[in-house]
Amino acid sequence: MLETLPLHAPPPPSPRGGERPVNSHTEWDPLEEVIVGIVDGASFPTWHMSLPPVLPAAQHETFRLRAGTPFPAELVAAARRELEEFAHILEAEGVRVRRPEPIPQRTTYSTLSWTSTGMYAAMPRDALLVVGDEIIECPMAWRSRYYESLAYRPLLKEYFRAGARWSAGPKPELTDDQYDAGWVDPGDAGPQRLVITEFEPTFDAADFTRCGRDIICQKSNVTNDFGIEWLRRHLGPEYRVHVLEFRDAHPMHIDATLVPMAPGKLLVHPDRVPEVPALFKGWDVMAAPRPVIPDAHPLFMTSKWLNMNVLMLDEQRVVVERQDEPMIEAVKRFGFTPIPCNFRNFNSFGGSFHCATLDVRRRGTLETYF
Ligand code: ALA
Repeated sequence: MLETLPLHAPPPPSPRGGERPVNSHTEWDPLEEVIVGIVDGASFPTWHMSLPPVLPAAQHETFRLRAGTPFPAELVAAARRELEEFAHILEAEGVRVRRPEPIPQRTTYSTLSWTSTGMYAAMPRDALLVVGDEIIECPMAWRSRYYESLAYRPLLKEYFRAGARWSAGPKPELTDDQYDAGWVDPGDAGPQRLVITEFEPTFDAADFTRCGRDIICQKSNVTNDFGIEWLRRHLGPEYRVHVLEFRDAHPMHIDATLVPMAPGKLLVHPDRVPEVPALFKGWDVMAAPRPVIPDAHPLFMTSKWLNMNVLMLDEQRVVVERQDEPMIEAVKRFGFTPIPCNFRNFNSFGGSFHCATLDVRRRGTLETYF
């Protein structure tokens, strides 16, 4: 089926000559250029055993029944409007905004071992990892995300031509060996039991958070030790990759659990992070306020803790959800300047401002913060 492909406005002029097209060392250096995802063509992925360990239990049946069909059109339209608002706010704050190109999401593709359909290009944070002047395409563990990075290829080629480094993790096979066929749900309080094995390296970029030379990550239902070790060796001795474990029985993506907002300032999930990790001793730590998204609001893929999934524009300005008054007040008390943006409909698709973006260029150099 042919999907409607909207045309996006041409990008604003290129950065000043001589600057690195890709340069991002932290989550907080002044943001100059960002990729904002798109929801066009967003589809329920082909059902697979890697999904139930992270999807809300109430959504399993919906995903099974609607596999390979579009997400509800009115939700897609509402989320698209919020993405436009977000892009305009970023531009008004002086940030250059780029968008991926839609790729077909409901076309069946196959490898030697399996077939699948895709999902979306809404969350650049998951598929691509920027470390310094390099963009790394992640070897993602979901079969439905196998071709996701193609939506960003026009941008990746452009950045490469302008001088950036561009690489990719080993292309995974994602055969049945990569998944634990005996996986059983550990329950919310249970010890972690991850659905992926150590058959081959896989990771999502959103399981990593960058603080200069120190990169903090978690193992999750998409990121394994093999993937973390691949990245550690790939980055080399300039970087220290720290693996932390949180009190989260269904981990996938660190950016609704542990969010470094500025040097010395850390936002944490109050239940998942009962003790501040030793690395952050001496930092000011704020427990995120409880989320206020109403129960009736659809969240297909995550918990409500997307309220923590904020985007720093620099060490001061932070984009937060407009209706989330407790978080707006909390970041003010923590010394930041909130920039509110409507994003609740986008949240339904499994992410908020951090997930929806890839900070391609921040003004800053490689520093040590610990
Ligand atoms: N997996 C994270 C959550 O659901 C984003 O809170």
